[in-house]
Amino acid sequence: MPVVIDRARSRDRIAHDVLTLTEPQYTSSSTAICRYAYTPEYRRTADYFAARLRELGFEVWEDAVGNLVGQNVPRGERVYGLGSHCDSNRNGGPWDGPLGVAVALEVCRLSGEHGLDLPLRVISFLEEEGSGFGQMLLGSRIAAGRITDEELRDGLRAIDDGRPFVEHAREAGYRPQEWRSCSETLDDLDGWIETHIEQGRVLQDEGTTLGIVEAIAGYVHADVHLDGRAGHAGATPMIGRADALATAAEIILEAERLAVQAGHATVATVGELDVEPGLINVVPGAVRLSLDTRGVREDAFRGVASALESFAQEAARRRGVAARYVQRTAVAPTPMDAGILAALQESADAAGITHRRMASGAAHDTMCVAGRAPSAMVFVPCRDGISHAPEEDSDPADAALAAEVVLNALVRLRATAPS
Ligand code: GLV
Ligand code: MN
Ligand code: MN
Repeated sequence: MPVVIDRARSRDRIAHDVLTLTEPQYTSSSTAICRYAYTPEYRRTADYFAARLRELGFEVWEDAVGNLVGQNVPRGERVYGLGSHCDSNRNGGPWDGPLGVAVALEVCRLSGEHGLDLPLRVISFLEEEGSGFGQMLLGSRIAAGRITDEELRDGLRAIDDGRPFVEHAREAGYRPQEWRSCSETLDDLDGWIETHIEQGRVLQDEGTTLGIVEAIAGYVHADVHLDGRAGHAGATPMIGRADALATAAEIILEAERLAVQAGHATVATVGELDVEPGLINVVPGAVRLSLDTRGVREDAFRGVASALESFAQEAARRRGVAARYVQRTAVAPTPMDAGILAALQESADAAGITHRRMASGAAHDTMCVAGRAPSAMVFVPCRDGISHAPEEDSDPADAALAAEVVLNALVRLRATAPS
């Protein structure tokens, strides 16, 4: 028999948790949610969740870089893991991340209230968005060992002040030199489920309540640096210019064309553009543009990245510009675990909650957890698919249904687990 929950009570508790974190002490901006690793707003947010977990009797700690962990059984025992992240995008809304931690917390409350005594660990990963240090999934990548000493020491600098990650981490009281010990954050997991807003509009448009995520898109993140020749905008003839920005314009349009041509829902985005000297009356001498290309077909999005690199060289040569392509990160697509997917689906069916299988176009910490434990995700609709924007909105009533489905999926998994 499925566990029947008081949905209105769960809705109100999840809404309270997520909306409390929109108050001024939890964000550094009055127009968006902004909180990045090792800032006071982030500290207060992690403390909020830590306090709620302690109220439930969980032991709470942080690993050597600051991933927050709470557990209701002694360390070393097998557990089911739940959670997400509570940092935000630089143009963030209330729900991306905190929803998953709030749903995890709600499942912990429900497990206690219904006398289920599930062995649970909640994780809120550090710096999922890359808003503090420019690389996504940082806390979960560190825990999964998907980083090198060199990257941590030399490759990561704070976007706001250019100082190294390790310096910020030490100042905040952490031990980044011991980052390998963070692997313990992912020890002993019999399963992992992250709940998240969909960040698209498929569920809303179809009128389906929950998404059960069967694969997460992989991605390539890279930069193209173009060095041309600055000159007087009035006195330099059109023939013979080495305009770095005109070259970038060709590359941006080619990225769009290549993604459409690649098919399989492959996407490509140029979201960052630095122009030097950036003056109305000067031919642009240097440009840096970013590339984000993703999909669930690795050959397709990697093909976009490599074709764009060749195109950039060719376009630059034609225009007398030098091009340099530098990859930041490449992450493979991640399939989810069939057993957890089935448990989620059966639980949703038993509760009469509509659902569909889907892929996630966005990246999630679950990509890193999946290398260590059977993993899956649940998506909750978000209004008009808007995310990474202050207007991001979601219905806590749907989040309560996600909590109910996750709770029942864990009960099923435990009932069928080999003893
Ligand atoms: C994570 O927020 C992403 O951009 O996929
Ligand atoms: Mn997120
Ligand atoms: Mn995000």
